[in-house]
Amino acid sequence: MTASTRLAPGGEAELLDLGGLRRHLPVSLERLYENLLDWQRLPHVHAGDVQAVRCRSWGAWGWQADIADRHGRWALVALELDRGRRRWSARWRSGPRAGWRMDGEAEPAPAGAPGLTVTVRCLLPSRSGRGADRIGRVWAAWLTGFSALDEAMMVDRQRQLDRRIDRARDAERHLDLGPVADLRLPCTVTLAGREFVVARVADALCAFPARCPHQLGPLQAGALADGQVVCPWHGDRFDVATGENLSGRPCVLSHLPEVRVDADGRVRVSATH
Ligand code: FES
Repeated sequence: MTASTRLAPGGEAELLDLGGLRRHLPVSLERLYENLLDWQRLPHVHAGDVQAVRCRSWGAWGWQADIADRHGRWALVALELDRGRRRWSARWRSGPRAGWRMDGEAEPAPAGAPGLTVTVRCLLPSRSGRGADRIGRVWAAWLTGFSALDEAMMVDRQRQLDRRIDRARDAERHLDLGPVADLRLPCTVTLAGREFVVARVADALCAFPARCPHQLGPLQAGALADGQVVCPWHGDRFDVATGENLSGRPCVLSHLPEVRVDADGRVRVSATH
């Protein structure tokens, strides 16, 4: 971060350039664009900053949404993505930061190395120029924390996609989890090459995928209550006994394994796909 109070180049004399934050991201452009366009993650992955989002429009070009910050103050924010130039821009159209802008640019890592180098600049109306160095430092610290959460999400999603491709075809389809009295629930098991969570719902045992059918979010880390699990990435709610998506999105938890307690008191899980 090189905070400065110079005027922004490129004819935007009314904007003050706080400087750029440059960092390496171990992800592909595809994951980065997916993340930039993913307004739905904001109140979940960034719950500490964003209370609620109401999207007005979205598409491959970007999105426009009303966003409530953690204090409940609303702002209209528009994000536009320019894939041809690997650039994007987020603009605050109203609210406490009206007139602020964040511009981003991605460059492939040099000489075939994996990942991207991403630079994000913050520009704000020049009337806010007083204390710009301090604002720049606060902004850089905020963006570093915000980006770290997005990076973890992108890396995790890529890892899951890679694992699906590499999945062993002859993986175990039946598991013996041992005596029911010794079982600590919920627990995660690998069955037929996929991870499942085994849990107790009411008085019955059930198993559901550890990864969300939407974008492979970590359902094993989701809140589980009243027979429902909530995905930490976009907040979809699933009935773990039936697999139904109770949030209205068409994706459901499919191929739920069979879980049974046999006459010998041992819990056995079998794949159904
Ligand atoms: S990954 Fe989007 S709701 Fe789970």
